[in-house]
Amino acid sequence: MDASLKGKKIVVGLSGGIAAYKTLTLIRLLIKAGAEVKCVCTPAALEFVTPLSLETLSGHPLYSDLFSARNEIKTAHVSYADWADLMIVAPASANTIAKFAHGIADNALTTLFAAFDKNTVVAPAMNTRMYHNPATQANLDLLLQRGIRIAAPDSGQLACGAEGDGRMPEPETLLAYVKWMCRCLDSPRKGTSADSFYKGKKVLLTGGPTVEPIDPVRYLSNHSSGLMGCSLADELTLRGADVYFVAGPMRVRPHFSPFRSISVQTAGEMHEAATVLWPSMDIAILSAAVADYTPVEVSMQKIKKDSDSLCLELKKTQDILARLGKDKRPNQLLVGFALETENEIENARTKLKRKNADMIVLNSLRNPGAGFAVSTNQVTFIDKHGRVEAQELKSKEEVASDILDYLSSLC
Ligand code: CTP
Repeated sequence: MDASLKGKKIVVGLSGGIAAYKTLTLIRLLIKAGAEVKCVCTPAALEFVTPLSLETLSGHPLYSDLFSARNEIKTAHVSYADWADLMIVAPASANTIAKFAHGIADNALTTLFAAFDKNTVVAPAMNTRMYHNPATQANLDLLLQRGIRIAAPDSGQLACGAEGDGRMPEPETLLAYVKWMCRCLDSPRKGTSADSFYKGKKVLLTGGPTVEPIDPVRYLSNHSSGLMGCSLADELTLRGADVYFVAGPMRVRPHFSPFRSISVQTAGEMHEAATVLWPSMDIAILSAAVADYTPVEVSMQKIKKDSDSLCLELKKTQDILARLGKDKRPNQLLVGFALETENEIENARTKLKRKNADMIVLNSLRNPGAGFAVSTNQVTFIDKHGRVEAQELKSKEEVASDILDYLSSLC
């Protein structure tokens, strides 16, 4: 039996949304993993699921009515807040998110939220236009700024028939978030407590590939999936950092919404975003696979295949890592990646010095489980003190955690 959440006390909050049916499975999964669960919900949630199902699955009375004499404990919003280690609100409707953001406490869930000062994850679920509505986005931003983790909604077919962002992540994914958060709460890192080093730090993170247009239909790019960058974004978010994620076009997304997401296409755009942000950052981790060369000219029309051969003239892109290294202040930390196929350590050492980085994460393409578009990676850390530390083949989530542990040990 999976007992990874043994002894954990979790409040599951539900607001009104069709995705509430998935929360019933989440409750079962949490209990199967060893957690104790109590449920709290808004009146609208009870239009979608019944008290009987929530009480039977959780094994505890449901807290749904602020003023009911039926409540076992009269001030349940305070006692639940004292009792729980963590709260997950799934589904979180646009209305409930707005109330959370503005401190409105007018029902059992919003009152408990206002009284809750521990780790909280909110899983928005709604129509895509409601999700992208500037008011909802501003409310989510407010919650992010206050340290609430947002489980980024999936994209796909929604209950209303529309397609787009807004689907609540599957129960298994939400379970993984909860486990991830509990792992971070439980395991103090080498030489530092779980959250203390990164908590409140501003971290510039780049990830994914860049795309350099040749003409309106073609481009130069690489195989980077962005998985390493997303794993770093999640690990940093879980450790309490404000992540400014400058991301090229990626097939994957972080599980938790970063503090700020800036989407870019080209190396030039990534360079501009990174250099503007850098002066106000504490740390930069540049995991993006940035194009080294870009076409000198972008054809406005599709290039026709008129001749037997075609020469593309390319020019060097600006090196973002080198630029940030040049402008680095003594209290800032800079991490670069390196992909080498020969003289790996030596070349990475040269890169570290040349670009004034504090640490280089060296990827080797020699190992079949490492590199692009796979879920594992094998890296070697090279730092400014001359240390070299080879790591085993691990999942990219574990590699992300190792990178952050190693970086904090440099200070
Ligand atoms: N990098 C960058 N800007 C570029 C190219 C690379 O910031 N225009 C960063 C990458 O994000 C990575 C590091 O530099 O953190 C090393 O990238 P890599 O491709 O290994 O090395 P290069 O410096 O591009 O040198 P070479 O390709 O010659 O090995």
